[in-house]
Amino acid sequence: MKFQKGARLKEDLYSNTGILLLRKGTFLTAKLASILNKYEVVPDPSLKGRRIATEVTGIFHDVLYENIYRSMEELQQTIRVKAELCDAEIQDMEKNFHRLYKEVLATHTSFLELMEHFSSDEYLFKHCIHVGLIAASIGKMLKLPHEKQNLLAQMGLFHDIGKFTIDPRILNKPGKLTNEEFAVIKTHPAAGYRLLENTSLDPMILKGALMHHERLDGSGYPEGRKNIPFLVRILSVADTFDAICSNRAYRRRQPVFYAIDELMADAKAGRLDSEVVLPFANFLMENYRNQPITMRNGARGKIVHIHPLYPNQPILKIEGYPLLNLKEQKLTLFQIANMQ
Ligand SMILES: [Fe+2]
Ligand SMILES: [Fe+2]
Repeated sequence: MKFQKGARLKEDLYSNTGILLLRKGTFLTAKLASILNKYEVVPDPSLKGRRIATEVTGIFHDVLYENIYRSMEELQQTIRVKAELCDAEIQDMEKNFHRLYKEVLATHTSFLELMEHFSSDEYLFKHCIHVGLIAASIGKMLKLPHEKQNLLAQMGLFHDIGKFTIDPRILNKPGKLTNEEFAVIKTHPAAGYRLLENTSLDPMILKGALMHHERLDGSGYPEGRKNIPFLVRILSVADTFDAICSNRAYRRRQPVFYAIDELMADAKAGRLDSEVVLPFANFLMENYRNQPITMRNGARGKIVHIHPLYPNQPILKIEGYPLLNLKEQKLTLFQIANMQ
């Protein structure tokens, strides 16, 4: 069947894992109609009045992402007009995000794949969604209880909500910010806290919005505090990682190996928590173990050993050379590998 832009959905649309993707009556934007038309959507034989999207990689994420994107747009609009929020307004966004998050868990999709998958020009929306998924994934790596993983997902989703109050000309400025402009950017943690203050969200979500730019050595903002809750430390790592690996108005995205170097340097300097950075960096490096990697000199090699304390300095087997221990050579993988 063909989905028409401007029409309304006639039945609820579910994923084959049982998650509600779109409600009956949903207005089909051009984007949504085109996503749906790319995939096969069939009636669910077991339940009347339902349609089920057949298992085709991507559709669930596309639809769910589009849903949450739209609720974020509405939320941004509300904040710009009213400068305040109430529960009803955040619930829609939270519900939509929860579906995406559950679907990602159900299909075991890694956030790295998702970061490649979503394409949108709006950095901030995408960033909030990514940080939620990454923070929750770190929670999972650290074997935190499910409620904490869920909380981390929400903390990520709302962490930069204060940026909705900032003039887009400053927020999306392609060049370097002046001191005055940077001072405006630095108001977003407190602005985010104030926006969420009168909602029923978990207090930790408010702390996430307020403290995600604080650093353990006191070098962060807005207060320069050193005492940072553990879940917020996780949030800061997820936030830093996604900011480095995303395209921004003022610079192109950086490779994952560069981001790992940055996180390791921040952990070593005592800014970010190494209890969070090390497991995360190890997880990221594990994705590349035994994968072909091209060196900057054109030689091909692969990672054969990752030291848990120095994950960005693995031992490599490079064709035609003896084993190369990057830790001994005082080099990192980013410095010698040719990364996208
Ligand atoms: Fe932020
Ligand atoms: Fe952020």
